[in-house]
Amino acid sequence: MLIRRPDVILPSEITDASLFHGRRDWIRNASAMGLIAGLPVLSACSVEAQGMKLAGVKPNPQYVLPDEKINKAEDFKNYCNFYEFGTDKSEPPVLAKALKTRPWTITIEGEVNKPKVFDIDELYKLAPLEERVYRFRCVEAWSMVVPWVGFSLAELIKRVEPRGNAKYVEFVTLADKAIMPGLRSSVLDWPYVEGLRMDEAMHPLTLLTLGAYGEMLPNQNGAPVRMVVPWKYGFKSGKSIVKIRFVEKEPRTAWVKSGPSEYGFYSNVNPNVDHARWSQATERRLGEFGKRRSLMFNGYGEQVASMYAGMDLKKFI
Ligand code: MTE
Repeated sequence: MLIRRPDVILPSEITDASLFHGRRDWIRNASAMGLIAGLPVLSACSVEAQGMKLAGVKPNPQYVLPDEKINKAEDFKNYCNFYEFGTDKSEPPVLAKALKTRPWTITIEGEVNKPKVFDIDELYKLAPLEERVYRFRCVEAWSMVVPWVGFSLAELIKRVEPRGNAKYVEFVTLADKAIMPGLRSSVLDWPYVEGLRMDEAMHPLTLLTLGAYGEMLPNQNGAPVRMVVPWKYGFKSGKSIVKIRFVEKEPRTAWVKSGPSEYGFYSNVNPNVDHARWSQATERRLGEFGKRRSLMFNGYGEQVASMYAGMDLKKFI
């Protein structure tokens, strides 16, 4: 007997799509009317995507770190920076439960020949999903080693055919006041916007990320889709992306707007250039005591240093 084992089982495939969305609508309407107030929350969450296993994901042998210990999934899920859900690391795991990741679209626009609005479930089928173990270094001088799931952003970029004048890529993430209490704070100019130069965006290491630890991304870690740019400080890796724009000029990112002397557009991990208020020479790996030396380009120099040849990295922070 032939048993179909799809590589990736999407939430919308488990239930018939119309039923899936219809049930979601029913749940939403019913909860708005207070009809299911007394029912267990599980009924409203059972069709959510987070935590769902991603089947058939192949580890990419090019991106393994045999000398590093992968962090526990619990560290990853409970120590989060997602300011839209609060500036305390313990807030996003609780408050991001309100994030609904289906339906979800990502608009690709700007200087491209083939602009497109992708439904999130289409993205899973755009290219084979790979597991890649990357070091992840936050500007606050802590780090993790995480097995991400996704594919090179270049796969998507090739399909939308950027024009010659597309020099940068801007990532715009969700800003929904109804569910994101952090938007009431003026800590950043919302929405959270990040950006990369075109060659950085096309670099094979730059990962369009849909999962981690073999599962769909937890909400607090940027579900349903985020960036991971492992040679840069973690804030370059925008979470819960809704728009990718191809532009001619360097994007004004949320962090550069908030403090241009502290946060630069490039933000490559650089132990030789301190943050205005603290050293970047060392870092604390989550789960470890003591500190370890930070690595230039977070250890990815061999792959990425040539992109910055001739640039003064003390000036282009
Ligand atoms: N993306 C959005 N939309 N909002 C944020 O506050 N924080 C950034 C980045 N992406 C952030 C974001 C920072 S500072 C870091 S270190 C990483 O997400 C943290 O990712 P993690 O919580 O999954 O480890």
